[in-house]
Amino acid sequence: MKRENRFPFLLKFTSIISFFAICLFALPEEFDRDRYVKGEKIFDSKCNSCHEKSMPIKILMDNFIYEDNKLLNLKAPTGNEISYRLKSQIGSRDDIEFQIEETSDFVIDYLYNPDKAKTICLPGVIRHFDTMPSMKGKISEEEISDVTFFLYFLEGFDGVNEYYKSK
Ligand code: HEC
Repeated sequence: MKRENRFPFLLKFTSIISFFAICLFALPEEFDRDRYVKGEKIFDSKCNSCHEKSMPIKILMDNFIYEDNKLLNLKAPTGNEISYRLKSQIGSRDDIEFQIEETSDFVIDYLYNPDKAKTICLPGVIRHFDTMPSMKGKISEEEISDVTFFLYFLEGFDGVNEYYKSK
């Protein structure tokens, strides 16, 4: 009798666990792989000459806080730093669709009219750099939207990062 009951219990138990696992690791429905790849190509051709794509946060913090940027000699904050700051400084992750729009508006404005007074970066990071040159006339609003979409998902979404690392 006991033995017969065990199976449905285990089944229920494992489905509850997998439900939570899926909630934790699934990509949000707002993620669009084609747009991400498109944005990454724009990043590679128009941003990567100054912005490294991704580096471990621990090494970045050592570089900026303790080594005065002499360890890595970076020309600009990295893509993953920007990704993290966009999501934590602008809007709320509770509404991803709207936050993507808001971050894209910020980046469009920043790339056409850069001014460190508007920075979303940490003071300890930004102090190592001069203001980024304006990209007015060098990139369209649509391209900036796509590159921001890529930046948005670059850091903090496991599924995307897995994809990014496997390339
Ligand atoms: C010629 C070098 C250069 C290029 C090319 C460049 N950037 Fe930058 N960018 C910088 C520097 C330097 C900073 C840090 C100073 C600043 O924030 O103005 C920066 C900062 C930023 C910031 C953070 C702004 C802030 O302070 O909050 C964003 C977002 C950004 N860049 C996006 C881009 C994107 C997207 C591209 C490509 C379309 C790009 N950049 C191309 C040099 C560059």
